[in-house]
Amino acid sequence: MRTVYVNGEYLPETQASVSIFDRGFLMADGVYEVTTVLDGRLIDFDGHMARLERSLCELDMTKPAQFDDLLDIHRELVRANAITDGLIYLQVTRGAPGDRDFAFPDPATTEPTLVMFTQSKPGLPDSPTAAAGIKVISIDDLRWGRRDIKTVQLLYPSMGKMMALKAGAEDAWMVEDGHVTEGTSNNAYIVKDGRIITRDLGTDILHGITRAAVLRFAREAQMEVEERAFTIDEAKAADEAFITSASAFVTPVIDLDGAAIGDGRPGPVAQRLREVYLDEMRKAAI
Ligand code: PDD
Repeated sequence: MRTVYVNGEYLPETQASVSIFDRGFLMADGVYEVTTVLDGRLIDFDGHMARLERSLCELDMTKPAQFDDLLDIHRELVRANAITDGLIYLQVTRGAPGDRDFAFPDPATTEPTLVMFTQSKPGLPDSPTAAAGIKVISIDDLRWGRRDIKTVQLLYPSMGKMMALKAGAEDAWMVEDGHVTEGTSNNAYIVKDGRIITRDLGTDILHGITRAAVLRFAREAQMEVEERAFTIDEAKAADEAFITSASAFVTPVIDLDGAAIGDGRPGPVAQRLREVYLDEMRKAAI
């Protein structure tokens, strides 16, 4: 049985609980981070904690613990659950004021709820899906307007994932005003004539921690990067496509809405970026 963390305590997962009045439960009033563990070490922990701090700040939420304490908790969960490869999920909500009310509770009397748990994923970096590439479909982006904040309001992305599975694909790319925003839980890229094209940062996409690292490595390798929105037609005519996220790293996309991208196989740019990303991030893991 897993050991999980709830508000200062390490508990067996069946004994951990949160109030029914918790605003994460009633209002989706919470933010989260997912940090990958490879060989028992944390990948880009600083990046994830910096984004957590930003998400909390944008929503006027109190930070539940200092950076060093959060690092200690991550490490203790890795140790207690003997995680070699996997994920650590961290969620902070605005807490449980003891009743339901649209107004935020006073942070002086209602403390944030901090929950963390591990997901063991042996062989995560060697996933057969990544080797084969994934199929995606396009769907309308019906999410709210502050997708740069990593909130736990994941109903529409979850519906998008189900639409994809029903269509025989692995994921969905969301489209707004004729342009791709991102995948249900990842950032989206195409490659055309050697150039890597991905949507520029704004409030309409999550600022992926993996995205930042991958674009840095691409530029260091003298690859051309264009940060701009692209259309589904452009993606269908691209040489390659791929996604990035903490858990998928760099994963090739080989089919969009039933049309093969490029030659319908994982492309060289995606494969190279995946290798570089995994190598470099392993070296820097803590
Ligand atoms: N998802 N865009 C969206 C909408 C996401 O949910 C995610 C991450 C990303 C990629 O961000 P990063 O590179 O920092 O993981 C982009 C996580 C993994 C999840 O919900 O499980």
